[in-house]
Amino acid sequence: MTSKQTVKFVINGDEVELEVLPHWSLLKVLRDSLDLTGAKPGCGEGECGACTVLVNGIPINSCIYPIMEADGKEVLTVEGLAANNGLHPIQQAFLEKAGVQCGFCTPGMIMSAKALLDTNPNPSEDEIRHAIAGNMCRCTGYVQIVESIQHAAGLMADARKRL
Ligand code: FES
Repeated sequence: MTSKQTVKFVINGDEVELEVLPHWSLLKVLRDSLDLTGAKPGCGEGECGACTVLVNGIPINSCIYPIMEADGKEVLTVEGLAANNGLHPIQQAFLEKAGVQCGFCTPGMIMSAKALLDTNPNPSEDEIRHAIAGNMCRCTGYVQIVESIQHAAGLMADARKRL
């Protein structure tokens, strides 16, 4: 019988230490142990992107990411984006540009968008489409999602000017 191991990582800015089975995925731990249900279980094979979260700033498919790989790292989920009870500009942009329909893909899309905009604040449409290539959406046809991310880039630029 496999025994539990201790894993320690930072989740949305707070350090956690948990007892886990090493074959568990990061997604399972987020949802079942930490009650963070923003990342969605979709295909379970790392193909649809609904479970996307950031690990040390890089978007990963948490459904196939072994929990022990997260040890000592920083994990950011969609729950960690909003600050002071206000929406993050990317979340605001998805609302304003109708980037959300059923919403199942939205947390993963938003996290992929965040990883992009953190490293490329003014991406081209091609760069946006490339960044969300691993995130499937069955509802929007992607046009509103691309527009949402373009709008988010503008909102984030405005926010930087106000600092
Ligand atoms: Fe429904 Fe994208 S909004 S899957």
